[in-house]
Amino acid sequence: GAASWSPPYYPAPKGGSSAAWADAYEKAYELVSQMTLVEKVNITTGIGWAMGPCVGNTGPVERLGFPSICLQDGPLGVRFADKNTAWPAGITIGATWDKELMYARGDGLGAEFRGKGINVILGPAMGPVGRMPAGGRNWEGFGSDPYLQGVGAALTIEGIQDNGVIATAKHYIANEQEHFRQSANAISANIDARTLHEVYLWPFQDSVKAGVGAVMCSYNQNNNSASCQNSWLQNAILKDELGFEGFIMSDWLAQYSGVASVLAGMDMTMPGDGLAWDDRISLLGPELTRAVMNSSVPMERLDDMVTRIVATWYKFGQDEDYPEPNFNSWTNATVGKIYYGSNDNTTGVVNEHVEVRGDHATLARKIAADAIALLKNEDVLPLAGPMKIGIYGEDAGPGNGPNVCIDRGCNQGTLAVGWGSGATDFTYLITPLEAIQARAAEDGSVVTAILNNTKLDDMKASAKEQDICLTFVNADSGEGYITWNGLEGDRNDIETQLGGNEVIAAVSQNCKKTIVVVHSVGPIIVEQWAQSHRVQGILWAHLPGQESGNALVDVLYGDVNPSGKLPYTIGKSLADYGPTAGVMYVANGNPPQQDFTEGLYIDYRYFDKHDITPRYEFGFGLSYTTFEFSNLEVELMCPLTPLPAPRPEPESTPPTYDSEIPDISEVLFPEGFTPIDRMIYPYLNATNPNVTVGPYPYPEGYEKPHPLMPAGGAEGGNPALWEVMYKVTMIIENTGEVAGAEVAQLYVQFQNKNIDFPVRVLRGFEKVYLEPGECKQVCFELTRRDLSYYNAAIENWEIPSGGIGIAIGQSSRKLHLRGNLRYGF
Ligand code: NOJ
Repeated sequence: GAASWSPPYYPAPKGGSSAAWADAYEKAYELVSQMTLVEKVNITTGIGWAMGPCVGNTGPVERLGFPSICLQDGPLGVRFADKNTAWPAGITIGATWDKELMYARGDGLGAEFRGKGINVILGPAMGPVGRMPAGGRNWEGFGSDPYLQGVGAALTIEGIQDNGVIATAKHYIANEQEHFRQSANAISANIDARTLHEVYLWPFQDSVKAGVGAVMCSYNQNNNSASCQNSWLQNAILKDELGFEGFIMSDWLAQYSGVASVLAGMDMTMPGDGLAWDDRISLLGPELTRAVMNSSVPMERLDDMVTRIVATWYKFGQDEDYPEPNFNSWTNATVGKIYYGSNDNTTGVVNEHVEVRGDHATLARKIAADAIALLKNEDVLPLAGPMKIGIYGEDAGPGNGPNVCIDRGCNQGTLAVGWGSGATDFTYLITPLEAIQARAAEDGSVVTAILNNTKLDDMKASAKEQDICLTFVNADSGEGYITWNGLEGDRNDIETQLGGNEVIAAVSQNCKKTIVVVHSVGPIIVEQWAQSHRVQGILWAHLPGQESGNALVDVLYGDVNPSGKLPYTIGKSLADYGPTAGVMYVANGNPPQQDFTEGLYIDYRYFDKHDITPRYEFGFGLSYTTFEFSNLEVELMCPLTPLPAPRPEPESTPPTYDSEIPDISEVLFPEGFTPIDRMIYPYLNATNPNVTVGPYPYPEGYEKPHPLMPAGGAEGGNPALWEVMYKVTMIIENTGEVAGAEVAQLYVQFQNKNIDFPVRVLRGFEKVYLEPGECKQVCFELTRRDLSYYNAAIENWEIPSGGIGIAIGQSSRKLHLRGNLRYGF
């Protein structure tokens, strides 16, 4: 599983070798060839924290009409703005297992970010993948499986980028926990090449294949080399093997070196400040100017950095009619300081309060409802009134309002999103309580609510009076810069929070019928009550976003038949996830070493391998109707060979410039220039430009370039990996009384006994909606990559001999159809 060393790979591959990007690179070449050295540097460097409207702003090149690029969080909505949608979180859209909704949500996000004038959205997140159930930011991504993450990421990216907004695949890579994530001695995620490819890189590969414009390198180290200065991961894997044509930006202050990071492939530094928030001591900016002047960074590398950024801007049509930012991250006031982080007091209109929501509330509600997983239903759902309804638990109500803590950094009131940069402000949040009250009024039901989790005696007394008791519990987590209640981002356990188990006990022991509703960032241990005959129903509602209550009512009353499926395993204990699935809370060294010794075996793959029965398995979720699976058919599409065709020649040639190192006078602060206080500029000081020319030895590889990666050759890797090898079809029938949707899940079972393989891995899913009695055919396409493992010895994907089994079902353990892919090797 683990590797502790990261090999060198230089020089950084240049962008511009794919046909799809050729136009954009040509336009970029035209523009960049007119730029001076300092203009180029300006584009690679943030102007400093809080110096522009967005969380990241690059320096513009006004002379040539190239704007400051606005980069803004986050994966589920515009952070620090108003009149925008607080969408269901990544984990929630993951739980829908619905490809159409994944695209539609991305499209909605894209429309809103464009409407606010944002060039680059800092999402989607696909790392953390979810190696550790308590990892603080797992909820920003799509679920604890690389395939599910990959589909979610690619469709989100397509949706976003179809609006001309540049998406960011983050965090590259293996930033699986919040503790020790950030410093020059950050935690090192130590991963072998096969695990890297089959688990952590997988969704990034899908993202590059989908044409993602930006990638964010992460805070942590990988194999003891910081992500943003890891030449193997950036140059070899991302830019050569995956053929990434966009640009790599640092996570905010994740750049820990200057020249080394640039040579290792990082293209942009954010937020511009170098070693500490607000320090204005950039590791690029003037230092990059100096490094190119003294040739410790080759001009070619700078040209490539800038070309990648400018080409991406052209690729998404941002040169034509693209709006400028019309909001401000640092104040909600209409008029305010233009340079918030400066002593310059120039003011102007900073928030135009542009309404960007369209009719996204309808879609947000549908996603939140379709994500709800029905985990238990003993004849209790859907509800039919009139009746006496008791509502219990703080998680049902408004608390002190959804925005009371900055970046949602506390768990109070109903939980609709985790905390950190991946959260948004709520324009409104429909609570379960208000939505149920409104619905109950329609049929004359009477609602009683006790929201204070410490009022257990009152709950007991009240529960006795009800026909049905809805009990709300939750668990929250987030990004490590906020600590709530002793949680430094990561959860400290995977139990219900705020006394949830006690509330369930008090209510369920006294009520005729109890339904538990869970809002959670991830798995929770439910052993105290899930099996109890006193709890008749369980609805797992994830992090629903602003339409929380409405979506829940849709499912409670059967207007929407539940069809959500768990995007992770709910085990019976944290220990059941394996010895390496716990967050490292105490450093085991400096830097802490996190060995991914479990290799491929995270989440359900670990449970399956060790034959551990979970409480609710990955992919599980019930319905108000029943389905039958039949008629499995397998068709070979293309003659099989173990190895893909060799990587093809590039389709296009990256631009080459004849830029030369300019005279020192061209990189000094221009005469008569009045700098804005605390702004980062690319210029050097005339009094001490400190430019001593090398020779500087370049790292290993500049003399003798590393051979190309065998698995590369185009965006997303060797195109042969994406060829469809098999078509698998089957039929689903709705055999029940009500309409509903089911997710057919296809798992692959490699049968080769000489190579270590998980019992099964997800390699396809399709959600179909069926009227009662209706049948539909479902079709899965299995690509070469889906049927291969990564053979580290030859650095390539290979279809193993021995045959491959497939199993299709309603969850990772309810498998109804089995077949075999037989081939002649
Ligand atoms: C740090 C977070 O890790 C990243 O996800 C976010 O985009 C940046 N901060 C900017 O807020």
